[in-house]
Amino acid sequence: MLAVNFIEQKKQGKEHKPEDIKAFIDAYVRGDIPDYQVSAWLMAVNFQGMTTHEIVALTDAMLNSGERIDLSQIDKFKTDKHSTGGVGDKVSLILAPLAKAAGCVVPMISGRGLGHSGGTLDKLESIPGFKVGVSCKEFTQLVTENSLAMGSQTKSIVPADRKMYALRDVTATVKSIPLICGSILSKKIAEGINGLVLDVKTGNGAFMEEYSESRKLAETLKQVGEQFGIKVKAVITDMNQPLGNAVGNWLEVVECIDVLKGQGPSDLIEVTLTLTTWMVVMSGIEKNFEKAKDILRELLAKGKAYEEFENMVRAQKGDVEYIKHPENYKQAAVIKEVLAESTGYIKAMDTEQIGMISLNLGGGRKLITDEIVPEVGLIVKKKIGDKVEIGDMLCLIHANSESDFETAKANYLQSLKLDMKPVEPKPLIYESF
Ligand code: URA
Repeated sequence: MLAVNFIEQKKQGKEHKPEDIKAFIDAYVRGDIPDYQVSAWLMAVNFQGMTTHEIVALTDAMLNSGERIDLSQIDKFKTDKHSTGGVGDKVSLILAPLAKAAGCVVPMISGRGLGHSGGTLDKLESIPGFKVGVSCKEFTQLVTENSLAMGSQTKSIVPADRKMYALRDVTATVKSIPLICGSILSKKIAEGINGLVLDVKTGNGAFMEEYSESRKLAETLKQVGEQFGIKVKAVITDMNQPLGNAVGNWLEVVECIDVLKGQGPSDLIEVTLTLTTWMVVMSGIEKNFEKAKDILRELLAKGKAYEEFENMVRAQKGDVEYIKHPENYKQAAVIKEVLAESTGYIKAMDTEQIGMISLNLGGGRKLITDEIVPEVGLIVKKKIGDKVEIGDMLCLIHANSESDFETAKANYLQSLKLDMKPVEPKPLIYESF
């Protein structure tokens, strides 16, 4: 079918045939269909949606657009986690070594920041020397030898997603359930996993703000993932405020080190424990959810997960000295507090805006070619429900100039909504299914 007719079909809300989806994706990856036609099709999908049948075909076409990692020689259940993206979401850096410490095999391919949301790879790369760009062979070797690898999509894995993801980012087609499903599941299935835990974020810092949309995304991800023969657990978690306190690549690594050493913010610990527990249960290591969670708590408290984190950093050529002594890392030039100018209870935080503050400080990319500045970001000091008096510290900004600090401060103050009445915070974890 001609590309123009394929686009027209979706524009009219008709269902594509699986073979036409495959032909379109293959031709795009080969370079036979230009970005402008794919952009038009992405927008048509964005508005018209796709049936489950079509999403399965899209995922399959994307998955088979490149190499797949073969971990069949590892005679154990292989499991991973993926988040749909948020602000301060640093869970993977704690969860992966923690799951490994509990006996899971974790092949994890992650993404970079997208829009206001941070990316695991950018956080890992803030560790000097850490190599995320491993080949399929190196990735397989790391998983075989260490039961854990955290890497990026190489050129050969799901090239269709690499091209489409970049295009979606600049054509306002990120927030589309079929496209998110194809993107996440093709990458994850290509890793050679048997099970996947999905952290589907909901709220004003998530790609799906409305609960009903987040649930629909979670259901679709589960339904489509299961059709590829993997076990899928979906957990819907809150993203109406940053997760934990740190937002910004290196600052988030430092917060992860705290959690791995048995400290750190309670919301981050709870979300991480819940998701990792599902990985342990899914792997059959411990069938009882509460017992599995207790095992993980103990591994954190005893420093076992921290040890695995250090091992992983060493195995992937990161400089462990900075993990042992984060105080030696390069600091931002300006580290200043933002103080409350009124009294009340924090009622709401504009989480997307907070993500954009970090991005604008240099923690994210405005253009695909931008270099990340790892040391900038912010540390949130008051969260939803907290009481605030005039002069209390609301957050600590790490900026590289006074003017960046002033802009970030003004935007941060604008991102908060205060109320005179006490505020009940929203649940942290809504449901798992
Ligand atoms: N994460 C992904 O990997 N892809 C998306 O489309 C959104 C979040």
